[in-house]
Amino acid sequence: MKNIEVSGIQKSFDGREILHSVSFKIKAGDFLSITGESGSGKSTLLAIMGGVLKPDGGTVTIGDAEITSLSEKQLAVLRRTKIGFVYQFFNLVPTMTVRDNILLPVRLAGGRVADYEEKLAKLVEFTRLSNVLSSYPDVLSGGEQQRAAILRALIHDPDVIFLDEPTGNLDSENARGVMELLKDLNKTFGVTVVQVTHSEQGASYGNSRILVKDGSIETCS
Ligand SMILES: Nc1ncnc2c1ncn2[C@@H]1O[C@H](COP(=O)(O)OP(=O)(O)OP(=O)(O)O)[C@@H](O)[C@H]1O
Ligand SMILES: [Mg+2]
Repeated sequence: MKNIEVSGIQKSFDGREILHSVSFKIKAGDFLSITGESGSGKSTLLAIMGGVLKPDGGTVTIGDAEITSLSEKQLAVLRRTKIGFVYQFFNLVPTMTVRDNILLPVRLAGGRVADYEEKLAKLVEFTRLSNVLSSYPDVLSGGEQQRAAILRALIHDPDVIFLDEPTGNLDSENARGVMELLKDLNKTFGVTVVQVTHSEQGASYGNSRILVKDGSIETCS
């Protein structure tokens, strides 16, 4: 179980400071919702926390790993094994079946698919995707695609999954299904969940939240 500490994160684009020394902590097993107006810096912050983007200053520590000091190569390994990332538009590979999409991180990391069959079966049941495993993403509903993307992010038992507006492209029923799944995964497997959301409904699933305003943390609870 790994706590996350964000300390003094600064980031500028084209000479304009987007994040002004942002600091907060997340306890292992928390479900944190990050909200704030469009353009306030939420996606930038999430990308820095997930090792996708380098900050100009400050540190992000996950467990005892200071990810902001890792090399690109080390970060790539970390993202493939210890961190899950889920985006608004699902980002499934259209030419691969759902099963192959979910197993892609295993293959990319050079793992043996056979070693993951048991876990895959368990997660597939948990996410109610057994009927669509051999289908291609384009015939799935938005909710199913997002559940598949979440499952793909979980295949390596990450310490934390970061989600950027996971329900932003879904109708309310599918959105509820995805949020219920995240809540169950958080409860059952203890995986830390950090989501950016515009939805008040979606934010309410978390057990803590922060509001980003003009690149600073306005409230923490
Ligand atoms: N790669 C980039 N190059 C230049 N400017 C950027 C880049 N990424 C983000 N920005 C700027 O940084 C600011 C914050 O962007 P960010 O995407 O973090 O906001 P956000 O809170 O996620 O907004 P939204 O709710 O609309 O997704 C915006 O003004 C955006 O234009
Ligand atoms: Mg965003």
